[in-house]
Amino acid sequence: MKAKTIKELIAGEDELAEATVRGWVRNRRGSKNVAFIALNDGSTLESLQIVVDFSILSEESMKGINVGASLVAKGALKFSQGGKQRFELMATEIQLLGSADPEKYPLQPKKHSLEFLREIAHLRFRTNTFSAINRIRHNLIFAIHQYFNNQGFYNIHTPIITASDAEGAGEMFRVTTLSDIKPPLTEEGKVNYREDFFGRPTNLTVSGQLEAELAALALGKVYTFGPTFRAENSNTTRHLAEFWMIEPEVAFYDLNDNMDLAEDMLKHVIQYILDNCREDLEFLSNRQQEEEKTKKAEEKSMELIEKLLFVANNDFERVTYTQAIDILKNSNPNKKKKFEYIIEEWGADLQSEHERYLVEKHFKKPVILTDYPKGIKAFYMRVNDDDKTVRAMDILFPGIGEIVGGSQREERYEVLLSKMKDMNIPEEEMYWYLDTRRFGTVPHSGFGLGFERLMLFITGMGNIRDVIPFPRFPKSAEF
Ligand code: 4AD
Ligand code: MG
Repeated sequence: MKAKTIKELIAGEDELAEATVRGWVRNRRGSKNVAFIALNDGSTLESLQIVVDFSILSEESMKGINVGASLVAKGALKFSQGGKQRFELMATEIQLLGSADPEKYPLQPKKHSLEFLREIAHLRFRTNTFSAINRIRHNLIFAIHQYFNNQGFYNIHTPIITASDAEGAGEMFRVTTLSDIKPPLTEEGKVNYREDFFGRPTNLTVSGQLEAELAALALGKVYTFGPTFRAENSNTTRHLAEFWMIEPEVAFYDLNDNMDLAEDMLKHVIQYILDNCREDLEFLSNRQQEEEKTKKAEEKSMELIEKLLFVANNDFERVTYTQAIDILKNSNPNKKKKFEYIIEEWGADLQSEHERYLVEKHFKKPVILTDYPKGIKAFYMRVNDDDKTVRAMDILFPGIGEIVGGSQREERYEVLLSKMKDMNIPEEEMYWYLDTRRFGTVPHSGFGLGFERLMLFITGMGNIRDVIPFPRFPKSAEF
């Protein structure tokens, strides 16, 4: 008989005379006459209880069945007498597939710290926390693609290896096949990249935006969803060196359309997770509340599901940078010099402490900040008539800070060119980008959503290294 997943089995209405399950042992307990195995196969949070009655199966059949071992069990699926579970499997056959030495297996049925689990990322999938997170991750990816598909967007694969620095921030990982001992040199003694694989310096992309713009100016509504790489040395709970970004780009959209799209998308995918991952969310909510028991009342966050419902059902606050600076200047932490970076004047870049003050203390809801000073934003953002600000928008979330960065793009050739000159963006290398402004340019807008930042928000986890299977950060590329 074909084996079913535990998720399929426990979703059924009736007892089954015969069923086969396969999975890994989470726990084992029992008495002289009977053994109980908690078997988990990852299809769902719940483990299935396998009952091994020694009057049916010999005690010998339990040999090697320890925590971490894998097995196949056959028997009747019965309504469970005791316990919380609805069903249990009365085993008539049990076969050990792979044993796990209890002395050496690092995961025991007890609470392990997240720090410890990060060191065994190859095994942490086998915990409730990480299997829940990864099931949610899958559902969120699916919801995002479904959302854009329903809205008539086309998914575009933008290159991972590129020769341009989309953000102009220079925080890139070099890609090369040149010898690291004796690279070919130019006459001036510099590394000669003409001899490199691509005949020029190349790096891993920091964003697919520039290429997505090219596609949007032909296909109308497009989005990318790919890995992006940043060599910024930020050892924080919000930064990864390798993360995934969703970047829609839409022809004829202005900044308001762009904000509407971002807000609608975020609400839609959060609602999808509420509707489709309830059990995993409830587990993570309980987990978070356990963790927060030691925190002071004012540091406690809103219950996870309540928080997600709140964001899905309330409008985001839309505020200009200039208004935000006024709020911050007059705020208590600024006046009492509690901020690490005191806001003195218009033009200051906002740090995460300021973003979080606006979202968590002042507005108490997601905030969309617009119209930032042009000097602190990327070259491609459209300049406003005041010539001081650009049509930028950042979305700030409680507990996270910036989750989305986007803008209306500068579609005017002359304005863009002079800005690129001002900001030292090499225009000869970017001729292809400028060409879109020379041939049939149109107003257009887009944004980038950090996938793992959204995962952090939805799962309520505190560290971005725990919402991606194999995190990459300074001094760590294990697994
Ligand atoms: O604000 P950023 O740098 O914007 C761009 O890259 C634009 N090209 C996007 C666009 O308009 N198409 O990055 C976008 C988002 C941030 O808001 C943040 O959520 C996430 O990407 N992000 C990171 N996430 C994890 N680790 C990092 N090091 C991140 N850097 C940015
Ligand atoms: Mg940004």
